[in-house]
Amino acid sequence: MSNVHYIDHPLIRHKITMLRMESTGTNEFRKLVEEISMLMGYEALSDLKTRDIEIKTPIEDSIQPVLDGRKPAVVPILRAGLGMVGGVLALLPNAKVGHIGMYRDEQTHKPHPYYCKLPPFIEERLVIVVDPMLATGGSLTDAVDEIKKQGGKNIKCMCIIAAPEGVKAFTEKHPDVQLYVGALDRCLNDDCYICPGVGDAGDRIFGTK
Ligand code: PRP
Ligand code: URA
Repeated sequence: MSNVHYIDHPLIRHKITMLRMESTGTNEFRKLVEEISMLMGYEALSDLKTRDIEIKTPIEDSIQPVLDGRKPAVVPILRAGLGMVGGVLALLPNAKVGHIGMYRDEQTHKPHPYYCKLPPFIEERLVIVVDPMLATGGSLTDAVDEIKKQGGKNIKCMCIIAAPEGVKAFTEKHPDVQLYVGALDRCLNDDCYICPGVGDAGDRIFGTK
């Protein structure tokens, strides 16, 4: 099975179209990113392991499943990834949250790391890396490099919109990581923005432009 999963669902398709529109303002953009992240997370987490426990219903004793293992860690790539955290936490309210700070140099388009704080026992957790945009793939590739360096082994990444260039670069470097994508766009432009894309996701989430 390929490690890239293109999530194709009419609700996600519709919401991504709303996200793309230039007329969509900050408040709505933020809400859409969160909703799409929750819908994508529902699909991406369909292989979570469960274990059986004994419970008592009002009617009888019963053996029923609950999530198994350590609490997962959600790791947004700052800034834009922050917009996706709420959607994933709606599904996994007990998850830990780590942060990786990275910005793309406007000239070289190369990522520059500026912050990294991951929850303890990262090697025992499912790590869900979130970033709405996978453009050249540099930021996600470097973020996963760092998580692996700190011991992360079981890693899934969720990106709302990806360029083919980014998918290729990322999967070549991290063939063991499951990548979940909401929409695969056409290409990158000369400034390494995704076409048609949504523009600058961080600026649109935080209203900084
Ligand atoms: C954006 C986006 C990704 C990165 C993708 O962040 O959120 O992290 O660009 O580009 P890449 O695949 O070519 O590395 P940006 O650097 O604009 O920072 P921001 O989230 O703080 O706006
Ligand atoms: N980062 C963004 O926010 N948008 C793009 O299209 C590419 C990188």
